Parts: sequence; C-alpha cells; structure tokens
Amino acid sequence: MVTDSLSQLLKNGDVPSHVAIIMDGNGRWAQQRGLPRHAGHREGMKSVREAVEGSIQAGVGILTLFAFSTENWKRPPREISALMSLLELYARKEKADLVSQGVEVKVLGELDRLGTLTRRAVDGIMEDTVVGKSLRLNLMISYSGREEIVGASRALAREVSDGRLDPDEIDEARFQDMLFTRGFPDPDLLIRTSGEMRISNFMLWQLAYTEIHITPVLWPDFTRQHLFSALLDFQGRERRFGRVTSS
Ligand code: FPP
Repeated sequence: MVTDSLSQLLKNGDVPSHVAIIMDGNGRWAQQRGLPRHAGHREGMKSVREAVEGSIQAGVGILTLFAFSTENWKRPPREISALMSLLELYARKEKADLVSQGVEVKVLGELDRLGTLTRRAVDGIMEDTVVGKSLRLNLMISYSGREEIVGASRALAREVSDGRLDPDEIDEARFQDMLFTRGFPDPDLLIRTSGEMRISNFMLWQLAYTEIHITPVLWPDFTRQHLFSALLDFQGRERRFGRVTSS
C-alpha cells in the first residue's frame, strides 16, 4: 500500500518542493487513551520521523513543521516544559540519524524566548546538520505569522528611518527577505491534521497560494502513508495562482 502510493506519486511527477504541516491533535490522542497530554506530544515525535523519512522518499525538498506557536507559551507550565524537553530530546537523539539521512535542520521563530538548555540543543542540531542536502527541515518554534510580519515591517521601517532604504523600493521580494523563511520558496502544500480547518497564525504571508490538505488523522497517528496520500491529492489539484485555466 505504502510502496504503491509512493511509486504512483513518483510516476505522476510534480512532487511539491515545499510541504508545511500543522501537527495537531496530540492532546486529543492522549485524552482518548486516558493519558496525560505530554504522552501525545511524545508519540507525535514518531510522526515527525515518519514525515521526514517519507519526504525524503518522495523527493520533497523542504519540510516545514509547526512545532510550537507563540500562543503555546500560554499553555500550563508543565506542558510547556514537556514540549521543550521533547525538543531537546529530538535534537539529541535524532541528530545522528538526521545527519546520515542528509537532513539540514533549521529552527525558526523567536528563539530568544527559549531557555538556555533548549537554545543550546537547537543551536547544536543546526550546526551539526548544516551540510545536509537531501531535505531541509524547518522546525517553527515560538513562531507566530502575525509577529513575523510585524517584525519584518519594523525592520524595513528601521532601514527607512536610518536613511538606508527608500520606501518606494519596498516590494514583495524585499519584504520576503525580512521573514524567517527568507531564501526559500513558499509552501506548495499545507497539511493540517486532526480535521481542524484553520491556519492558526501559521505562515500567513507564505501560504498565499498554497494548496491545503486537511486530514482527520490525529498527529500521533500520522504516518508516511498519510503524507503520500496528501501528495497524491496535491498532484490532482489545478494551481492557477489567481489566473484562468490555460486551454
Ligand atoms: C498540537 O497538538 C501540537 C503541538 C502544540 C506540539 C507539536 C509537537 C510535537 C509533534 C512533538 C515534538 C516535535 C518536535 C519537532 C520535536 P495539541 O496539543 O494542540 O492537540 P489538541 O488540539 O488535540 O489539544
């Protein structure tokens, strides 16, 4: 089944270069089993592995995962600390595998808000995977799409007030250059798990023309088969970018 979908999508061609995922439903997964929420997050790490390996198999170039939003800082301290510990664990335990798989990891967001140990782990995984060429994995941590846009506006305003930039020179490309995602293309496909039909303050600028695939599967149950199904769904879409069909 898995190999069937993989060979089908490779045969179809047009695999998205950049896939973004809102990993949702860890809490519900745990609740359904009478477990604490952090058990859902821990199980969710396996799905991260599935998504990474599936992306490499399919030839996706960039995988961006929404791992912790700015709003998540408002969760109970115990849950925040469990999530930060998981991130540190991921950075330590998965590093060797990520290096051997050729994955380059970038952690993007307001990293100044991370504690010392988490920050050290994050810097370590970025340094040690920098040579990876098979997949670029962006982990969005302490990230908010609106704050990213406000930050970019502030940076441009500063350049103008310092006399380094003429306001008439501000265009989309220059704006994009001020975002965390500078230098790489917008996502072609956004996957959201757990059936919620929201963007939840994720990559508000970058998702302008992204195709959206929503699956009811809770994140801890997400496997590479679900990724391949989403990629096949994407291959059946007609992307018009606001234009009319060419025929
Ligand atoms: C949303 O589920 C998920 C998160 C807030 C955290 C995602 C984190 C992981 C998958 C684990 C670690 C990841 C890495 C990259 C190390 P939720 O808690 O909002 O679920 P709910 O909506 O069912 O309550």
